[in-house]
Amino acid sequence: MTGLTEVPYLLRAARGEALDRPPVWMMRQAGRYMKAYRDLREKYPSFRERSEIPEVAIEISLQPWRAFRPDGVILFSDIVTPLPGLGIEMDIAEGKGPIIADPIRTEAQINALHALEPEASLPFIKPILQALRAEVGNQSTVLGFVGAPWTLAAYAVEGKGSKTYSIIKHMAFSNPTVLHQLLAKLADAIAVYARYQIDCGAQVVQMFDSWAGQLSPQDYETFALPYQQQVFRQIKETHPDTPLILLVSESGGLLERMAQSGADILTVDWTVDMADARTRLGKEMIVQGNLDPGVLFGSKDFIRDRILDTIRKAGNRKHILNLGHGILPNTPEENAAFFFEIGKQADQLLAVHA
Ligand code: CP3
Repeated sequence: MTGLTEVPYLLRAARGEALDRPPVWMMRQAGRYMKAYRDLREKYPSFRERSEIPEVAIEISLQPWRAFRPDGVILFSDIVTPLPGLGIEMDIAEGKGPIIADPIRTEAQINALHALEPEASLPFIKPILQALRAEVGNQSTVLGFVGAPWTLAAYAVEGKGSKTYSIIKHMAFSNPTVLHQLLAKLADAIAVYARYQIDCGAQVVQMFDSWAGQLSPQDYETFALPYQQQVFRQIKETHPDTPLILLVSESGGLLERMAQSGADILTVDWTVDMADARTRLGKEMIVQGNLDPGVLFGSKDFIRDRILDTIRKAGNRKHILNLGHGILPNTPEENAAFFFEIGKQADQLLAVHA
């Protein structure tokens, strides 16, 4: 039983210990595929209410904890949550994601942004993280998260999600100085916010650079990587022992470059075979992933085989079992439950299947 050990599985994997099974959690494990979440959403229709009223956000983070006992419990929030604290007003629209009413397009707007004071502008974070830590004790690990500079800049400049990223790429390729100013300001704010989450109780922090995979490798090296490095370096200066995870969506062409970010753990998505990820990153890199979230629409046998295959390829050290990206909204809840069950029984199952 995990509960009897002093250090939870996720932190042990982050230390590089050999384990009988990998820790298991799921990106977006709180959310629409759970009936309990959909019921609560009727009572609190606005995402900002759900994520900024501490009792509600705590309850939502704990829904998957109670149902599946994952090895990681993640703060219920969004990557754009700190933006109003910098002076960028936003809302999160049902089915659409973040909307920024007054997108950032000029140097004057960037100069007008303020430094982040998390205690004042994000007063709900401390009670949420403290309550999560108190609730899970040493039976699980509490994760905080932040968006990365490039991805937050994409929302701030585009004003919403985008398929083509034309507006921010226009800025990047015709007026890069202005974009670099924005990225540097965002990096400082994100580092301050991540440090604050750790001070409030987050034991691991994941940074989402979801849209950095939309950049060519050479542009990733100019507009994404240096700012990921800036954030991770600043966090490590004050909090050297907190494991830091990086996620980039559609990152198959970028893995080796992601390894230069300063992250301790890299999320690998399903466009890369886990065995290839091990070869490309070396056996000392901690990897997280990497099942296609769509696998959870398959049969139980299929799901089990894919999980065991992934664990075998990753090895018994330095792997955190997860999907390669967030669980999809219509996923059958019992298949999510099955994912956790198999992950937790992997030690016995691998012995049987070997
Ligand atoms: O993992 C978890 O359980 C924590 C929850 C979490 C949310 N957003 C809650 C949320 C996390 C980690 C995020 C991060 C986030 N937000 C990212 C990075 C992760 C990724 O997918 O790459 C991004 C790009 C965003 C921006 C954003 N916010 C999008 C694209 C959407 C989805 C729009 C939609 O409705 O499909 C949101 C809204 C959002 N954030 C939802 C949730 C559960 C869905 C809205 C709802 O449930 O009402």
